[in-house]
Amino acid sequence: MTEQPSYRFAPAFEAPSGSAIRELFKYLSQPGMISFAGGYPPPALFDQAGLAAAAERALREAPIDCLQYAATEGLPMLREQLQALMARRGCPVALDELMVTTGSQQGLDLLIKVLLSPGDRVLVERPTYPATLQALRLAGCALAGVATDAQGLSTEALAEQLAGQPRGHFRLLYCVPSFANPTGACLPLARRLALLALAAEHDFLIVEDDPYGALRFRGEALPSLFALQNQVPGAQGRVVHLSSLSKVVAPGLRVGWMVAPLPVRQRCTIAKQTVDLCTSPWAQRIAAEYLAAGALEQHLPALVAGYRAKAERMLAGLAGLAEHLEVAPPEGGMFVWGRCRHGVQAREVFERAVEHNVLFVPGAAFFGDQPDPSSLRLSFAAPGLEAIDQGLERLRAAFA
Ligand SMILES: Cc1ncc(COP(=O)(O)O)c(C=O)c1O
Repeated sequence: MTEQPSYRFAPAFEAPSGSAIRELFKYLSQPGMISFAGGYPPPALFDQAGLAAAAERALREAPIDCLQYAATEGLPMLREQLQALMARRGCPVALDELMVTTGSQQGLDLLIKVLLSPGDRVLVERPTYPATLQALRLAGCALAGVATDAQGLSTEALAEQLAGQPRGHFRLLYCVPSFANPTGACLPLARRLALLALAAEHDFLIVEDDPYGALRFRGEALPSLFALQNQVPGAQGRVVHLSSLSKVVAPGLRVGWMVAPLPVRQRCTIAKQTVDLCTSPWAQRIAAEYLAAGALEQHLPALVAGYRAKAERMLAGLAGLAEHLEVAPPEGGMFVWGRCRHGVQAREVFERAVEHNVLFVPGAAFFGDQPDPSSLRLSFAAPGLEAIDQGLERLRAAFA
């Protein structure tokens, strides 16, 4: 009789819990399902022609760049294009401080590798992006949630939390200041400045995750934390900025980037060497060609208009559910955050919603601590306008 091998796992993987959102994927195959669950760009908003042209140019003009390994920090052409993109976003950065990552998700993973040790205290918004919670938990970090409201992270609550702690008590704060996942909230300028001042006073690094900032469909653009750091005494060098082409071009490219102070960026490059050597040079060259042709600037207005129409449709429909659900209207991004009224639990509504063929994400997945069981996240990104109407009708039936 052959003996079964007994696997010995690293402590963090002895009994790991996977992503709660990925668990919902099994319901997506249910025929006729309408999903408000994932933050997936809709097929109709991909610039397929622009990307096909960029892909054709990439292979015709630079076949060896596409087919060969590349420098770990990224193809020079793409880094230059991303530097120009950051400048257009009002954030001039040094080329040396910018590296390409395999999605912004990898940027976060590299930062955890080079900056954090088990037991280090990390501040996160409550609620926040679950893959960040998962990555920090796997790294053995001690998570501390910071309260948020309709305007995002409460700097007042943070100041109270920090008061009385020694400088350096928390190593890092992770936040999504512009159109957060899951709340859609956008941090106002005064809070951005207050957050930077707190980082300087209490000596922590800020990781600013910004995959959604370009998807603003209402109101005025705000400078990123990275762009503001020089305006706050002592805050310079305390911000790492992560961004991505996933939500504005295509997640399938797996192209993101990090801008970080040189000592951090250099160490992240070394960490990346053992992860994937380099982000797919083929995908990088396609992205570079796409950006160099000005295709993102051309496509962005249609993309933003598409999301505006979807958000408005969803908010109009949600007005009809106001007796059941309180929501915060976003100014950009892909998400609407809601709270069930009358003590109703989102998980119970979820069970009934699945029976009615509509999906959303119960909010508990987004909390590192003190989950709000009434909360839920709806994404208007993937479904078409009619599907949004129909999905909300089904949601009403689930509440009823
Ligand atoms: C806040 C946030 N950060 C990072 C990511 C991952 O993005 P990428 O595809 O660039 O890895 C997502 C994806 O949903 C996200 O919502």
